[in-house]
Amino acid sequence: MKYDFDQTVDRRNTRCFKWDLNKVNFKREDIISMWVADMDLPAAPEITEVIINRAKHPVYGYSFRDNRFYNAYINWQKHRNNWQIKRDWIVNSNSVVTSLCLILQALTAPEDKVLINSPVYGQFALAVSGSGRTLVTSPLRNNEGYYTPDFQDMENKFRSGIAAFILCSPHNPVGRVWKEEELRLMAELCLKYNVLLISDEIHSDLIFSESHHIPIASLSEDISRITVTCTSPGKTFNVSGMCIGFVIIENKILREKVKDIFTSSHLLAASIFAIEACQAAYEKGERWLSEMLGYLQTNRDYLVKFIRTEIPSLKVYTPEGTYLAWIDFRLLHLSQSDLLCFLVFAAGLGLDNGTKFGEEGRGFMRLNFACSFSLLQHALHNLAAAVKELQSNDLDIKKLIKESEVIEDCD
Ligand SMILES: Cc1ncc(COP(=O)(O)O)c(C=O)c1O
Repeated sequence: MKYDFDQTVDRRNTRCFKWDLNKVNFKREDIISMWVADMDLPAAPEITEVIINRAKHPVYGYSFRDNRFYNAYINWQKHRNNWQIKRDWIVNSNSVVTSLCLILQALTAPEDKVLINSPVYGQFALAVSGSGRTLVTSPLRNNEGYYTPDFQDMENKFRSGIAAFILCSPHNPVGRVWKEEELRLMAELCLKYNVLLISDEIHSDLIFSESHHIPIASLSEDISRITVTCTSPGKTFNVSGMCIGFVIIENKILREKVKDIFTSSHLLAASIFAIEACQAAYEKGERWLSEMLGYLQTNRDYLVKFIRTEIPSLKVYTPEGTYLAWIDFRLLHLSQSDLLCFLVFAAGLGLDNGTKFGEEGRGFMRLNFACSFSLLQHALHNLAAAVKELQSNDLDIKKLIKESEVIEDCD
């Protein structure tokens, strides 16, 4: 092991969403934060080094991405995913969510319907409604925690008129890495019903050893022609705060429309530090990524085994990708607000509320396990003890809620 992921990085007072907003989000300062999707693990030193070097130059003016920058990304896609993209196909962005919003504006009309598979990353629904388009959901099928697309339901909805489908691949929050046949079936439906395929592949490098990511656009020329793929180094290398991303579009007509709206929104420029960090990540970050994925896999396996053996009333399926565990708390029979309150005030944990991912997330919570192993152990032991107390009727939820109100009153 060259990199030390066991060190606990104190992120407090760095203006980070995850730890510095506990009081605002959870009404309690001293919880273990396991919500927003970034990692508590230190980024690759190879990235830190280029940022420091660039910072030493005292002029921080406008900068462009050069051939070396693009080649680093093109080579990464070829080498990791066997996907040969061309320089021309890339549209620069600063964020996947911004890209989704602008792509919808550029490539769909105000009266159009856009389909998503729920539960899914909450910003998908917001991007659709925020762009004034109509949201249609096709819930995934939950087969004892193993989620699959409901192809029949998708087809019925496509048949009734859908302009675009936003695919989450791999899927946040259910942790699926879609198999080739699943991707093909979804893409073929898009082709059959003339639906634009927008594929959010931001989690595509966070794949565990038994799975394999396939960029949907790489499946065939026909699929590539209708696909807009959004990616970023943010999740892979824990550089989300750098705000840089890519949109890949082979189809020139679609691409020109997207480019126009990105240009008029002044989105093509990037932070000088983001450019350096992104290039270094794709050129030099592979070894770090491979060690980091090994570390995450140990965390994941520990979490799943711990929950199954120590807290059997909760249900969790082993995620195939991402560092997010989608945990089913329904057997505790708590309302969503009581569940949140229980987690914060009895277990001392800040998790992501399942209903942020759609109504199908009621009774669920998302836990981010990209932290040191010791912190994860600590969090899971807290959770097991709190569930035990709840089940032995030693815990008075109503009293906990009262305490949370008292804390709010103290603000
Ligand atoms: C599926 C998915 N897309 C996009 C994002 C955010 O991307 P960005 O920060 O580049 O807007 C996230 C963050 O959690 C995500 O899970």
